[in-house]
Amino acid sequence: MKDIEDNTRKIKERFHFLKNKVNFETLVDDDIFLYVNFPFCSNLCDFCIYKIQIYDKEECNKFLESYNKEIEIYSKLIKNKKFKNVHIGGGTPNLISPELLIGPLGKLVDFDNINRFVVEVFPRHDLSEYLEILRKYNVTKIQMGVQTLNKDILAQEGRKVTKDLILSCLDILNKSGYIWSVDLVYGFKCEEKFNRDYVIELNEILKFNPYGIHPYPMISEENNNHYDIKKKDSLNRHKKVIDKVKIVYAVLKKAGYDLVKDEWCVHENINHAKKTFCYDAKTGFYSNYIGIGPKASTFTRFFEYQNLKDIVKYGFYLDKGILPIDEFEDFVESDFYPISLIDKEIEYSSKIDINKFIKTANLSKNEVKKISALIRYFIHKRLKFKLEKGMLTIPNTHYSVGLKLIDEFWN
Ligand SMILES: C[S@@+](CC[C@H](N)C(=O)[O-])C[C@H]1O[C@@H](n2cnc3c(N)ncnc32)[C@H](O)[C@@H]1O
Ligand code: SF4
Repeated sequence: MKDIEDNTRKIKERFHFLKNKVNFETLVDDDIFLYVNFPFCSNLCDFCIYKIQIYDKEECNKFLESYNKEIEIYSKLIKNKKFKNVHIGGGTPNLISPELLIGPLGKLVDFDNINRFVVEVFPRHDLSEYLEILRKYNVTKIQMGVQTLNKDILAQEGRKVTKDLILSCLDILNKSGYIWSVDLVYGFKCEEKFNRDYVIELNEILKFNPYGIHPYPMISEENNNHYDIKKKDSLNRHKKVIDKVKIVYAVLKKAGYDLVKDEWCVHENINHAKKTFCYDAKTGFYSNYIGIGPKASTFTRFFEYQNLKDIVKYGFYLDKGILPIDEFEDFVESDFYPISLIDKEIEYSSKIDINKFIKTANLSKNEVKKISALIRYFIHKRLKFKLEKGMLTIPNTHYSVGLKLIDEFWN
């Protein structure tokens, strides 16, 4: 009981801090993203680290009620300002009508002046109709989760989608006129057993001319089926996956794709699409966004926080007119911002151009000093990072995603 009271007090304090001390109006500029986390899926895939819960109509209606309240609170905080960059993820946002999930965002988003608007989708029979409705919101990019085309792995991981359905959705996307990309995951435990061939599979997907490909090496976290491997093995396994994924990078490079953050995008001269639709540093998605929905995180120049994950608790605070903020870091008081920022950057990239990074992040002299100290610390004590000609390189990995969680890596 005392714990509940303590938590409630903390959450109220955080909300009042935000309401009274933060000027959301100035925070909402042309670069900041609004991130929406839709917390339901029709099935829970074993490998996934994001799943929250299986879709249930009643639960979803309750979520939507709370979600609308959260939108209302933010609309009061941002006053006359509107977001121009949006990312809708989850979960599986295309499980429900865009009118229910995207429509209410009209209070926060300027749909007529969209800069970037990304929607994540799961391959479903109604994809074509779904994409048609999205047009009225000026969505700029669709990101579809494919993960693999291997039917045995799909079945083993509980994806509940057939290869034929995935191929028909790829065809729909190809003909849709949208800029779109595909998520693929490498390093399923069962992929050797089921003879997954990275190259054949990738070439089959590339025939549909995706604009971008996200090749994710498998991340092991407590809530997925890759976590039970002994930690040491897990690290070696991750390294092996990264080595194997290099084949994928080579195929992509040959097909005219370029790496921008964690996404491989086609060259502009291939389909006239703009490279800026990838997650480059300019989007600010990783370093400047406000998140709504259960478990959504927020990261801005001044603070970082995460919403409560539990949908019931999330709704409980919103019913009281309070934002359901769980973990909170006030950068103004703690001065932790530059360190958090580079930590995030390291998660998504193996090479960082330090000078460009400092410039893009618009850091003060004092903050630059902190970053320099942090890099020196990394170089000497932790990862043996290399700093050469202003480029910070993490040796032996292409992606450091996932390694963060493994103790051996840090000690
Ligand atoms: C938030 S999920 C949404 C995807 C969508 N629901 C689907 O399954 O089609 C975004 C992406 O994260 C990636 N992902 C999920 N679990 C992962 C893991 N354990 N390791 C690496 N990537 C993962 C998948 O590629 C997935 O498409
Ligand atoms: S991979 Fe997609 S569909 Fe599967 S559990 Fe994760 S978010 Fe849901």
